[in-house]
Amino acid sequence: MSSVKKVALITGANRGIGLETARQLGRQGITVLLGARDLAKGEAAAASLKKDSIDARAIKLDVNAPADYVAAAKLIEKDFGRLDILVNNAGILVDARKGNETSTTSAEILRRTFDTNFFAVVALTQTLLPLIRKSEAGRIVNLSSILASNTLHATKGSPIYDAKHLAYDASKTALNSFTIHLAHELRDTKIKVNSADPGWVKTDMGGEGAQLEIEEGGKTSVQLATLPDDGPTGGYFHLGKSQPW
Ligand SMILES: NC(=O)c1ccc[n+]([C@@H]2O[C@H](COP(=O)([O-])OP(=O)(O)OC[C@H]3O[C@@H](n4cnc5c(N)ncnc54)[C@H](OP(=O)(O)O)[C@@H]3O)[C@@H](O)[C@H]2O)c1
Repeated sequence: MSSVKKVALITGANRGIGLETARQLGRQGITVLLGARDLAKGEAAAASLKKDSIDARAIKLDVNAPADYVAAAKLIEKDFGRLDILVNNAGILVDARKGNETSTTSAEILRRTFDTNFFAVVALTQTLLPLIRKSEAGRIVNLSSILASNTLHATKGSPIYDAKHLAYDASKTALNSFTIHLAHELRDTKIKVNSADPGWVKTDMGGEGAQLEIEEGGKTSVQLATLPDDGPTGGYFHLGKSQPW
């Protein structure tokens, strides 16, 4: 491995697990590009990391705006010539409110959730893949969830048996399929593709009642973003432990 600084793009990095992931990667000496749909919020987040001597830059990136992907790819190509790490972190949970039972979840909620949590991840990754192929050791991390696990959803007594949100859960299950399929296509390259279950984390999405502090919540993404050359690909992990699909 050369001594050239690695460069990572994290989507949805202006707050929550994305910002923490950027912080932890930055502390390892990696240049972190903070994707944010509101550039001002991204710049404020980057400024907070720079105080910690992290090489952080904000990039305007709404994952539902294909024009932003093209602009981001051009900028990364021009400034770095490659992308070493892509963390597909941006995500939404809009069907956790009471009244969104499986039998009444609307097509609008399903489509909105899949747009951000699945279709955007596939399209952004496809756009950036040529730059990731130029890395000596590309790493792609897809932010999944324990709620993606069909095995646990179907198992009475599992920790998520009674936590059903059709749109969110199914979007993350589909994301896990993307991980498996892309890892298979890239199996003879140096690129590793994995799904991260960060745990239940205290963020705006996870809420105050969540089990993990934000530092712990960033660790799974960071581990998968910095896997060694003999590390796994096509897996689904929480803090180094495989999760059931
Ligand atoms: N927290 C948990 O317990 C937990 C558990 C399992 C999995 N996850 C997953 O981990 C990831 C991060 O979650 P979090 O808890 O940090 O969530 P969060 O606190 O709600 O933050 C979500 C981030 O995603 C960004 N985002 C949403 N839609 C976007 C879009 N269209 N384009 C660009 N950015 C967008 C938000 O930007 P704005 O500030 O502009 O809204 C924000 O930066 C998500 O994929 C989530 O599903 C979280």
